[in-house]
Amino acid sequence: MKIVLMSGSTRRDSLNTTVLETVRHILAGLPGTHETVALSVAELPFYEAGLELADGSPAVRAAKELVAGADVLFISTPAYNGAMPGALKNALDWLSRAEGATPSPLTGRVTAVTSASPGARGGLDAQPGLVAVLGRCGARVVEHEPVGAARAGALEVEDGRFTEPELVARLESLVRAALAAVPAGAEVLV
Ligand SMILES: Cc1cc2nc3c(=O)[nH]c(=O)nc-3n(C[C@H](O)[C@H](O)[C@H](O)COP(=O)(O)O)c2cc1C
Repeated sequence: MKIVLMSGSTRRDSLNTTVLETVRHILAGLPGTHETVALSVAELPFYEAGLELADGSPAVRAAKELVAGADVLFISTPAYNGAMPGALKNALDWLSRAEGATPSPLTGRVTAVTSASPGARGGLDAQPGLVAVLGRCGARVVEHEPVGAARAGALEVEDGRFTEPELVARLESLVRAALAAVPAGAEVLV
């Protein structure tokens, strides 16, 4: 299976990117072959209809191809004033766009959502808005109790990933739910 990891943060030492590295490590320990690829929201220009009409952004094309070919899209978002950061919303706006007969790569895409914050709520406040946008885009959001890495700035990091057992267990539960949500044979459709 192919899993695209999209961090909502553009920060170098991002807690959310660390969450996704933890997800990558969990996937590597599960049975089956899981190819993971990171999608950087920082490389996408601001959405602009003229640029889209002119087909002028290789980064957008690459991002759309990546997501179109994914069995699972895994997003970890910070909470900026209780919502996802603009850079992540911008990426979703690009990804939401159909092209002629080609649907948006988010349509029907199995998508898992998590979050991280140095605060006590672990970025959970950003998740309902993100889930709502994904729903508007036709993504198939994985049903699971919300998972957020709380006080993540104080958690131990080893090889770029979190090791705290309870967080790892909750993330593994979300990962398993995401893999289980992929329709059988879906990979031959893209
Ligand atoms: C503009 C702004 C607003 C923020 N608002 C919140 C917030 O509402 N809740 C929260 O827990 N953290 C908030 N934070 C702190 C972020 O959670 C923190 O910067 C976090 O490390 C960002 O995620 P990252 O480490 O993946 O970059 C805010 C940070 C910024 C810059």
